Amino acid sequence: MPRLVMLIAIVLLSLLRSCKGQLQVGFYQDQCPGAEDIVKSVVARAFQFNRAIAPQLLRLHFHDCIVDGCDGSILIDSPDGRQESKAFGHQGLHGFDVIEDAKAQLESECPGVVSCADIVALAARDSVVLTNGPFYEVETGRKDGFSSSIDHASNLPDVVDPIDVLINKFSAKGLSATDLILLSAAHTIGSTACFFMPERLFNFRGTRGPDPSIAPPFLAKLQRICPNGGNVNVRLAMDDGSENVFDNQIFVNIRGGTAVLQSDAAAMTSATTRPIVDFYARSPENFRRDFGIAMLKLGRLDVLTGSDGNIRSVCSSFD
Ligand code: HEM
Repeated sequence: MPRLVMLIAIVLLSLLRSCKGQLQVGFYQDQCPGAEDIVKSVVARAFQFNRAIAPQLLRLHFHDCIVDGCDGSILIDSPDGRQESKAFGHQGLHGFDVIEDAKAQLESECPGVVSCADIVALAARDSVVLTNGPFYEVETGRKDGFSSSIDHASNLPDVVDPIDVLINKFSAKGLSATDLILLSAAHTIGSTACFFMPERLFNFRGTRGPDPSIAPPFLAKLQRICPNGGNVNVRLAMDDGSENVFDNQIFVNIRGGTAVLQSDAAAMTSATTRPIVDFYARSPENFRRDFGIAMLKLGRLDVLTGSDGNIRSVCSSFD
């Protein structure tokens, strides 16, 4: 008899779990077996035409997850212009059309099954792989959220934040200092607008001079590309010399005073984060493995699963 009771308890518990839902690798295997391949092929095609799409899609996933969790809220385009993507810290986000393209194909293949939040997570992974980064399994089963507000995105990690502030902002999301360093190393690919450079190059922490940690020849180069009062839309690689390849060079650059973003360089200013940079600068294989693990953690932030949230039919709209 006790065995029967136990069996019933197990069945009830698993029923409860499936109603609540949870992330799992291969979530769409039964209902939409081609889902991951469809996302992969849409991303690969976009990448063929425009290599910049890979870093853009990787960044999009981070920006989706860091505000109200990985719920596709960053994709909403609202007529009142008060949606999350309009926040100051989300400036320069791209890749929305690629996500929408994948969504349209998935809707015709298996309507109402694959969430926009999952498409963003998968597209980020595919972008890493396309730039020679590590393959990692992506858990799926996220649902899309019902809100997207500029007001929820007012405290994003900022490029001028000191390292302890960045550590605290990540920690508030359950991410460690190691996660911060690993995930920010996504800056191994892609570029930044000069818009984010003036403080570092000309008035570092109110000193009216540049960040003294920048190696002098590199400072001259940065100031040439982004002169004071120049065009803020000019773009420059964030991982100087290796911006098209997903590798650990960014750590070598950070150690050598040739980081581009102030927030990346800040990792050398703390006894907590400096050894982490040192470790991954020496150890490309560990970086490849641990980056995937950190992305898994990022992808779990405040997800909606089961009967929470829904599956949008168009990613930019709640309707
Ligand atoms: C410490 C927190 C972070 C700060 C302050 C930060 C800041 C920035 C800034 C200022 C840019 C340039 C944006 C532009 O001009 O278009 C950028 C680009 C980028 N960020 Fe971050 N970021 C952070 C963390 C992350 C994380 C965790 C990821 C992904 C896991 C990420 C992925 C990227 C990528 C791939 C780009 C290049 C985008 C492109 O080429 O268009 N960042 N980030």
